[in-house]
Order: sequence, then C-alpha cells, then structure tokens
Amino acid sequence: MAGQLIVFEGIEGAGKTTQLQRAATWLRSQLTVPVLTSREPGGTLLGQQLRSLLLDVRQQDEQDEIAPRSELLLYAADRAQHVEQYLKPNLAQGAIILCDRYTDSTLAYQGYGRQLDVELIQQLNAIATGGLTANLTFWLDLDPEIGLQRITERGAPNRLEREALDFHQRVRAGYMALAQDHPQRIIRLDAIAAADDLEREIRTILQTRLSEKLCESFSKKLSNN
Ligand code: TYD
Repeated sequence: MAGQLIVFEGIEGAGKTTQLQRAATWLRSQLTVPVLTSREPGGTLLGQQLRSLLLDVRQQDEQDEIAPRSELLLYAADRAQHVEQYLKPNLAQGAIILCDRYTDSTLAYQGYGRQLDVELIQQLNAIATGGLTANLTFWLDLDPEIGLQRITERGAPNRLEREALDFHQRVRAGYMALAQDHPQRIIRLDAIAAADDLEREIRTILQTRLSEKLCESFSKKLSNN
C-alpha cells in the first residue's frame, strides 16, 4: 500500500517543527510502518545546498538580493529533487512521511508574500511534484507579530524571517485562502495554544485519519494515549 504524506505548514515561529517531531515520536511508538521526517527546503543533498543559498542573509543586500522569480525557481528545484529522490521512493515503500513545509509554502510565501502569479506557482508546483500531493496538512496558524517576536527571542533570523511584518501578514492571508480552498486536506490549528495541547489535538486527528487509511495487517492499533 502507498504511504502517507503529512505536511506541517505555517509562518515563522508557529512551532511546526516541534509539533512535527513530537508527532513523529508518537507515531513511531504506535505503528510498525516506517515513520520518516523531512523538510523543504533541504530534504536532499542538493536541497541542503539550495537551503543555505536561500536562507543566507547576505543575499538581502540590495545589490545581491535574490530576485523573487529566482527564489521561486530555487524552491521549485529543491522540491523536484526531494520528490524524486526521497518522497516518491519512500511513499512507494509504504512509509508515513512527516514533512516540514511543502507546496503550500510556495503559494503562501512566493504567491501571497512576494505577490508572484499564484496560477503560475500552481503550475510550477505540479511540475516539481509530478502531481504528488499531501494527504493531510496541519496549518499552525499564528499572528505574525507573535511569530516574529518568538523568532527574535530565538536569535539569528534567516533571510525570510527578516522580512517586514506586512510580508508575513500576506503569507498568513495566503494560508487562510488555501485552507478555505482545501478544507478536507488542510486543518487549521490555533498555534497560540500550549505545545502539549497542540500535540494532543494533532494526535487525535492523526488517529482518525490514519486508522481510516492503514490496514491492520501491518499496523499496530493506534491507541488513545
Ligand atoms: P523553515 O525550514 O521553516 O525555516 P526554519 O526552520 O529556520 O524556521 O523554512 C525556511 C524558509 O523558507 C521559511 O522562511 C519559509 C521559506 N519557504 C518559502 O519561502 N517557500 C517555500 O516554498 C518553502 C518550502 C519555504
């Protein structure tokens, strides 16, 4: 049976990486199928190199600034490699993959944030993914002012995190529009909630969604804890 691609999305500081790790630990304790984690950009060797180019703050100087369309194409290149080399082969083996960001990030950041053509990005996403879509997407929604404050406290913000508040507000509006367009796939979570509460909410949703999909023959029963 084909695996499951479960994506965590949201603006900076929403806590998606923490929740992804917690969900992975829990799923591993519940299932016998492989549970993998990955991220975009940076899920492959090529991707790691693209990630350091994309997030390098030196490319924010006016003279060396990465142009929005170059940025878009670099994210697309990262995704094409990730899908081909990592996601497709592992999903074909039946793995459950929890991925930090996927196609919605490009629509939200480059489409709404940078205000590039959203339809063009949809086409580019289709090319980069070869049609591979997420089975389920958790959108950790947070007020960008709070998200950016959390980032500042963490220190050393990356190139995208240094963008102004209105950029992050447009990104959030993008996620909102995407969630409205895909109510079955995208689940909004209020990321202001305590991490433990969010973790519980995510477990409950995973339990429902995955027990519908995974056959008992190779999964232990998902328990309630
Ligand atoms: P992320 O891994 O969330 O950074 P960190 O772990 O440091 O919080 O994401 C890297 C940045 O890349 C983030 O600011 C969002 C941005 N991004 C895009 O702009 N477009 C995309 O398609 C993707 C995947 C990420």
